[in-house]
Amino acid sequence: MKNIAVAGTGYVGLVTGVCMAENGHNVICVDIDEQKVKMMREGISPIYEVGLEGLMRRNIEAGRLHFTTDYPSAYKEADAVFIGVGTPEKEDGSANLQYVETVAIQIAESVAKDCLAVIKSTVPIGTNDKIEELINKSLVNDVRVEVASNPEFLAQGSAVKDTLEAARIVIGTESEWAENLLTEIYTPFNLPIVSVNRRSAEMIKYASNDFLALKISYMNDIANLCELVGADIQDVAEGMSYDDRIGSKFLNAGIGYGGSCFPKDTSALEYLARQYGYDLRTMQATIKINSEQKLKLYDKAKQRLETFEGIKVAVLGLTFKPGTDDLREAPSLANVPLLLEQGADIYAYDPIGVDNFKQFYSEGSHGQGNITYVDSPEDALKGAAACLIFTEWGEIKAVTPNQYKDLMQTPLVFDGRNIYNVQEMADNGVEYHSIGRPVKNIN
Ligand code: UDX
Repeated sequence: MKNIAVAGTGYVGLVTGVCMAENGHNVICVDIDEQKVKMMREGISPIYEVGLEGLMRRNIEAGRLHFTTDYPSAYKEADAVFIGVGTPEKEDGSANLQYVETVAIQIAESVAKDCLAVIKSTVPIGTNDKIEELINKSLVNDVRVEVASNPEFLAQGSAVKDTLEAARIVIGTESEWAENLLTEIYTPFNLPIVSVNRRSAEMIKYASNDFLALKISYMNDIANLCELVGADIQDVAEGMSYDDRIGSKFLNAGIGYGGSCFPKDTSALEYLARQYGYDLRTMQATIKINSEQKLKLYDKAKQRLETFEGIKVAVLGLTFKPGTDDLREAPSLANVPLLLEQGADIYAYDPIGVDNFKQFYSEGSHGQGNITYVDSPEDALKGAAACLIFTEWGEIKAVTPNQYKDLMQTPLVFDGRNIYNVQEMADNGVEYHSIGRPVKNIN
């Protein structure tokens, strides 16, 4: 078993640390936030992730999982330091590497024995080389530090499962020593390991994420065409899914992808390509389609209602997807300001995203509009003249078609996640607009 330090305790860092401990390694997670570290020592996770706290507590009790702000002593005796800090998008679309670089220098100044710095954060191709140079330039002790790439593929909401039961572990190394050490660290996970060079590993991460984003934008593009020609995107997706070259996943049309990965990783690769004088046209189209798709629901509602002035609008779902409290790039954040600007009286429901959303829009009036947060979808729907669905939470899917009819002043629903059967909504007297599917006449 190895001594592992983890830099950063966000989705990637914390989940990596906990899962390494679960596989028997001795792990210390480093974060600069004293308060956060105190919480984590007590087994409280700063992020909402199914199963995470249980594993945290079990491994803390077993003495394999530790948390600290004292990075020099954490890195000093580590066999490997996993870097899981953020690489947020800069204004120009490129990835901000400032946090990775800071950690690299801290590692260089602290290590007292040979050590592998493993970059888990998503970084532009060539970054591993640069970070290795930076570390070697800043080394204080006479030790060997090499850099390896080990991209992370976890999705929020299923991060623990995605790590413990990953489809593959990708490792990018430039020496046998580094390859052997990483292979040894991952052997207890008992998962397929794809071992390539560092640049290929960096590219595998972007190419995988961006392909999924492309798949979603493609389905949204086809969905928009379905609306014009009278086809149904769900039937189309089903018909496509039987071909295992296409597969059945990530074929759901909707109001575009959000989250911490797809928007940033599509922009970063497109930006990187331009630096090499190459137009990455697939990503340019993917990004454009997605930004337009995010406003689809607002556009449809605006076209139908003409004005939102003083209209009670139920907003169901705020987070970018179910199972997380994360609002990064969430379609709700693109639509709610437009509704408020137009004077809507919003009643918003989300099972866990409300506190985060309040940081953008506190309860009360905003210009012409107003926003109130409620504890159930039913409370949002009562007396509403229109309903906009942004996230397919179980609690929202549980609302039945006749509840819309019974609770709303006028049963007019705009569904960005295609939750309901079009015919069933019409049969229950609900005027139902969804994505890439026809609007049925109410009998
Ligand atoms: C994603 C990748 O799945 C993960 O492998 C990577 O490491 C990080 O990015 P995440 O952002 O957590 O994970 O969520 P994911 O479940 O992939 O969904 C991303 C977005 O795409 C969501 O907004 C979701 O609503 C949207 N989506 C997904 C669709 O619109 N249609 C689909 O068919 C699937």
